[in-house]
Amino acid sequence: TTDAEYFIISDQLIESIFKPRHEFSHKGSFGKAAVIGGSYGKMGAAVLATQSALKTGAGLTFTLAPECGYEILQTSCPEAMFIAGGKRFVTNFEVHQDFTCGIGPGLGTHSDTEKSFLSFLKNYTNPLILDADALNIISEKSENLKLIPKKSIITPHPKEFERLFGSTENSFKRLDLAREKAEEHHIYIVLKDHHTQVVTPEGNVFYNITGNAGLAKGGSGDILTGILTSLLAQGYSEEEACILGVWLHGRSADLASERHSKESMLPTDVIGEFGNVFGELN
Ligand code: APR
Ligand code: MG
Repeated sequence: TTDAEYFIISDQLIESIFKPRHEFSHKGSFGKAAVIGGSYGKMGAAVLATQSALKTGAGLTFTLAPECGYEILQTSCPEAMFIAGGKRFVTNFEVHQDFTCGIGPGLGTHSDTEKSFLSFLKNYTNPLILDADALNIISEKSENLKLIPKKSIITPHPKEFERLFGSTENSFKRLDLAREKAEEHHIYIVLKDHHTQVVTPEGNVFYNITGNAGLAKGGSGDILTGILTSLLAQGYSEEEACILGVWLHGRSADLASERHSKESMLPTDVIGEFGNVFGELN
């Protein structure tokens, strides 16, 4: 990690990553995104992640959630297809081979969910986006970290990071630990904070400077999971998806705060600004 580099996510870097759509593209050109999450009483997290995947351009979007979320999801996200994966919480994580999966929002940590999630991980080899309760389940045993497929993206907030990898004295030491762990497990770590840091398996660090304290409310993380799942499904590399994703999330939040104030803006309002941010890029 001695020759690792530190970068700020600049507008120029974003312009070099963003890929405008070809005139002759069709929905098959933009991949299949699957949000896996939701449980009785936490279906909103799955809704937000799904809406976010839809509004960031995935060709087809699916939500694998428990049956108790069927009407909620079909009503709030009519463009997404519903896959039943349990009754009141998810107990079956199996999806089609070529889906890009973002797992965790509202998933809960019921013991049957934990068991089936860990056995799913044992057999799954494609990169995943892992957030929230998916990370909390993994945190329970340090051996579980070895089950994370290579090149996966994990999106812990500071508490989730601590549960996964242990506590550190300050944010500088936390970043060093993140670089060490990203390399060891060959994963991308999106360390969510005021200035979110994307840490690559090579130990490089990309600082995001968009975003504001209006994001400090429940649901803001769930929409980032939807963004990352959608961008990865569309063919952006893991590194590109992380960088473009955190920047887009923060930039949209900055526009939402101008319109609604930091106090009043909701994650839904942030999703509502995605279109304006893509408008700026196109
Ligand atoms: N400045 C800039 N960005 C911020 C700020 C801030 N002051 N505060 C929060 N954010 C951003 C973070 O960078 C991150 O992208 O908002 C997002 C918050 O994500 P989470 O901490 O995961 O919050 P949340 O969406 O509420 O998570 C929902 O998941 O992790 C579980 O237990 C958690 O139940 C909760 C659920
Ligand atoms: Mg969260």
